[in-house]
Amino acid sequence: MTTPRGVFIETFGCQMNDHDSAQMLKLLGAAGFHAAPAAEAADVVLVNTCSVREKPAHKVRSLLGRYRLLKKERPDLVLGVAGCFAQQEKGRLLEAYPFVDLVFGPDAVAKVAELVERARSERVLDTRFLDRQEQPFVNELALGEPGQVTAFVTIMKGCDNVCSFCIVPHTRGREVSRAREDVLDEVARLASAGVREVTLIGQNVNSYGGDALGRAFSGLVRDVARVPGIARIRFTTSNPWDLSPHLVRCFAEVPELMPYLHLPVQSGSDRVLRAMRRKHTRAEYEALVDSLRGARPGLALSTDVIVGYPGETDEDFRSTLSLVEEVGYAFIYSFKYSPRPHTAAARLADTVPEAVKSARLAELNAVQAPITARAMEATAGRVHEVLVEGRSRNDPAWMSGRLPDFKIVNFPAPPRVRGQVLPVRVTEAFPHSLKGEVVLRGDERDTGAFRPTEEEPAGEAPREDPAAAPVLVELRPRRTARRMGS
Ligand code: SAH
Ligand code: F3S
Repeated sequence: MTTPRGVFIETFGCQMNDHDSAQMLKLLGAAGFHAAPAAEAADVVLVNTCSVREKPAHKVRSLLGRYRLLKKERPDLVLGVAGCFAQQEKGRLLEAYPFVDLVFGPDAVAKVAELVERARSERVLDTRFLDRQEQPFVNELALGEPGQVTAFVTIMKGCDNVCSFCIVPHTRGREVSRAREDVLDEVARLASAGVREVTLIGQNVNSYGGDALGRAFSGLVRDVARVPGIARIRFTTSNPWDLSPHLVRCFAEVPELMPYLHLPVQSGSDRVLRAMRRKHTRAEYEALVDSLRGARPGLALSTDVIVGYPGETDEDFRSTLSLVEEVGYAFIYSFKYSPRPHTAAARLADTVPEAVKSARLAELNAVQAPITARAMEATAGRVHEVLVEGRSRNDPAWMSGRLPDFKIVNFPAPPRVRGQVLPVRVTEAFPHSLKGEVVLRGDERDTGAFRPTEEEPAGEAPREDPAAAPVLVELRPRRTARRMGS
């Protein structure tokens, strides 16, 4: 092996990109690279790009301008562009940025080590989509990091929908589902490495397995729930149209499936939904929300909203506001419409003036803010099951975890409770997080057994050793033990 080399990956965009970057780092690690702390200290710099809106695409262009100078100082540096902007621009990127050595799309992630090696001696372009037979997924490497409690697991790629505004089908290609055995194998390996929560990811997870009726995906959710050690399951993203009654039933019948769902609606106006080719009406979306909440009372929802789609009138926008108020989302992601190349909407005039888009965005967020605040405050004073994920960002003597409905809570606790599901009483609500305290049994209170200690190293908590666990009540017995015995 040659001397170890440093790699630095800069990531833009969605969870898919975050996950692809993490996988690339692992793959390059296996090929002898180490993670460099900054581009300046790296021998290989990769930019994993996003092109879903103009803003992230613009950020990539200006970042490349900066890296041009770096490359001038150090001509040996390998500079690569990955992700959706690379897939969108393909060879044009190599033409426009002569200092870029390597351009590759999301389907080439598994080949990253080989591509980087080749790029040391020639300029490389790989933006070919892989099909079902070729299975463009990384299967070998998915072991958790030491101390890792939650993990993403890719179950499919691409999207066969044709939402008029969306570039994703162009940059991520047609839907290809990962083999069920490979998904379950990865979940099992993660669980045996200590991971307790998995989020199944894909652009349109409900059509997993090419099954428009949604049985394959709901079956997969049930299978994942049966993997010993997995306490919690989430998934993202779901197009409402593809969310099947089978999946709704999972919310009623699979306790490991957490009571939180990201359900992008985009608009509350039927006219705009139709123009966006979203395939469902407002009433159908409302009915879906009702049936989901019927299956799992208290289900928390979040959504994506676009304001200023071509032709959106003030009345259309008022419909969006009323839908947001009616559904009562835990939080929303809101975007100004941004025309994207290769989309149907790009042929329409971008009619809503920028100032109107900004005003609508501000109004939407002003409507949502008190709804989010009320949802946060409603948790206060009550005890919740919290999966402890790691140390709190703000205070190393505190730990951080999530409620079943995805809200983040910080509380004083020793690092050894990482990976456990503990009863936490919420004591205070802030706009983006909660503060709480672990509920102790009487004897724990008396002996002071549960005191955060500084000297314990994080990440080395013996998660599956009950003897080493603090004397704390878990709200529900571990499924691990029960399942393994049954
Ligand atoms: N797979 C997801 C969406 C992926 S894109 C789904 O099923 O809906 C993530 C979000 O970006 C979208 O939900 C949409 O709200 C936003 N978005 C996509 N294209 C956009 C555009 N051209 N302008 C503004 N926002 C956009
Ligand atoms: Fe995009 Fe619609 Fe698919 S928003 S990712 S085309 S479901």
